[in-house]
Parts: sequence; structure tokens; C-alpha cells
Amino acid sequence: MDTKQALLKVMEDYFDSDVKRINHARWVTEYAEKLLDREGGDRPVVIGAAILHDIGIHQAEQKHGSTLGKYQEMEGPPIARDILARLGYSPEHITEICDIIAHHHSPGKITTRNFSIVYDADWLVNLRDEYDIGDKARLGHIIDRVFLTGSGKALARSIYLVEPGSLKDLVWRDMIMFR
Ligand SMILES: [Fe+2]
Repeated sequence: MDTKQALLKVMEDYFDSDVKRINHARWVTEYAEKLLDREGGDRPVVIGAAILHDIGIHQAEQKHGSTLGKYQEMEGPPIARDILARLGYSPEHITEICDIIAHHHSPGKITTRNFSIVYDADWLVNLRDEYDIGDKARLGHIIDRVFLTGSGKALARSIYLVEPGSLKDLVWRDMIMFR
């Protein structure tokens, strides 16, 4: 089993029956890989942070009674550090991954390419939950404002601003489902 698969397995065991969280982490990882291909970036760091970015959410709920970003940012890194050390990640990679997790709702504090990729990958999944994706005109402006990388913006446009059922839409779905 390669490191990514091992990490996915640990994440799934940790989230246990919380299928929503597991699927979210898997989608964010999928998008992060697409952005890595386009933007460059450090694969072990980006994949590690993408898989574990929300790992603190259950502790946030249990300790603080809230899934607010600041509690996730607080509770995630110690859990991630433990998991990554067990899987043999280097201290440098562990530090960088935990820094990304500690700021993944707070853009602007870390400006690395690795951070930007994980941040954009999370937004590629979350956009439909946070905004009215039916209002395409407004959504175009939101995409320009929210995403940090050129590839993130382009991918968001190709996912959210294409006409449903158009050729582009079908090609995109095909890429996502059967790659
Ligand atoms: Fe997330």
C-alpha cells in the first residue's frame, strides 16, 4: 500500500461511520491532485494536508460543541501529527502539513503554493454548500475572489459555470468519475 492509500485508510478508520467527512476528504484530495498537476507543489505535503485537513472536526465538536473553523484549526494538527509520524513522514513534512491544517480556514497567513492548492481544493468541494450555485453571474465574481490559484479558478469555472448537460459538462463528469 502506498503512503496516500495508507493515509486514506487511517482517515477513514478515524472518521469511522462519518461517511460525509470521508467523502469530503476524498473529494478534496481528488481536486488537490488535479491542481498539483497544473500548479506544481510538493505532492506528499499537499496530499497529506488534503486528506487530513478536517481531521480535527470531531474533537472540535466534542470539546467546543462547535465545528467552527477556528476549533478545527486548533484540534486538527495534534491528531494529524500523530498519524503522520506513525506513517513515517519526515519532521519537515509533518510541520508543513500541520501548519496548513492549522490555517485552512484562514487564508493570507500562509502564502505557499502547497497551502493555496489545499485551500482551493477544499473550496472546489465547498462552493456548492456556501453559495447559491444557480446564480451564475454572481458565482463568477465569487470564484475570482475566493480561489487563490489560477488553476483553482479555472477548475471552479469549468465545474460550476458550465451549462448542465453541455458537452463540456459531460466531458468533465467523465473525467471526474472514470479517471
Ligand atoms: Fe474541508
